[in-house]
Amino acid sequence: MRIDILTIFPDMFRGPFSESILKRAVEKGLVEICLHDIREFASNKHRRVDDYPFGGGAGMVMMIEPIERCMESLTKERAYDEVVFMTPDGELFDQPMANRLSTFNNLMVLCGHYKGIDQRIRDHLVSMEVSIGNYVLSGGELPAAVMTDAVVRLLPGVLGDETSALSDSFQDGLLSPPVFTRPAEYKGWKVPDVLLSGHDRKISEWRHEQSLERTRRLRPGFLKNSE
Ligand code: ADE
Repeated sequence: MRIDILTIFPDMFRGPFSESILKRAVEKGLVEICLHDIREFASNKHRRVDDYPFGGGAGMVMMIEPIERCMESLTKERAYDEVVFMTPDGELFDQPMANRLSTFNNLMVLCGHYKGIDQRIRDHLVSMEVSIGNYVLSGGELPAAVMTDAVVRLLPGVLGDETSALSDSFQDGLLSPPVFTRPAEYKGWKVPDVLLSGHDRKISEWRHEQSLERTRRLRPGFLKNSE
C-alpha cells in the first residue's frame, strides 16, 4: 500500500512514523508513506499557501492552487482509491473504516486547517472527508497520523502474530478481555484462577464472557447494533 500525505507541516509526522510498528512496516516495504510539503507547490516567490478570506473575517484560508498542483503531480503517476480530507465535520473514523481503507492500494490524505481551506478544494478535489472525533485539533496532521497508524497495522505482515489484529478490541464488535502476566500474585492482587488452570476451553469461555461484560458496560451500543 502507498499513502501520500499532503501537509504544510511534514515534520509533524516524523516522530510517529519513525517508531515502533509503523517504522517496521515501512522498513519491511509493506507500506510506503510519502510526505508532500504543499509549500513546495506554491507558485509565488514567498511560497505562500494561504490568503485573506473573501468577504472578510478572521484567519487565513488555504489556497486552491498549491494543493491542486501537488495533487496533480501525484494523480498523473497513479490512480487513488480515495482522496481523504481530514476535518472535524467529516465522517467519524472507526474500525470498519480503517478495515476498508486498509484494502486500498493508493490513498491520498490532505491535512487542512478547519475553517481555513478554500471550500472548492472540498467540493472538487477530495472524495472523502474524515474526522477522528468530535473535538477540534489545530490541523489535520495528528488526525492523519492516527488514521495512518490504524490502517497500516492491519496490513498483512505488519503485526508479528497474524491473528493479533483480528483479536483487537472492536474488530469483532466486542472489547478485548483483560490480560495478565507474571507474577501471579502482586501485593495480594491475584490473577484470576482460570487463567492459571491450563484448561483451554474454560479459558476461552472466560475470555468471551469478559469481553461481553466489558462491552455491555463500556460500549453498550456495539451490542445493540449487532442484535
Ligand atoms: N482537524 C481538526 N480537528 C480534526 C478532527 N477532529 N478530525 C479530523 N481532522 C481534524
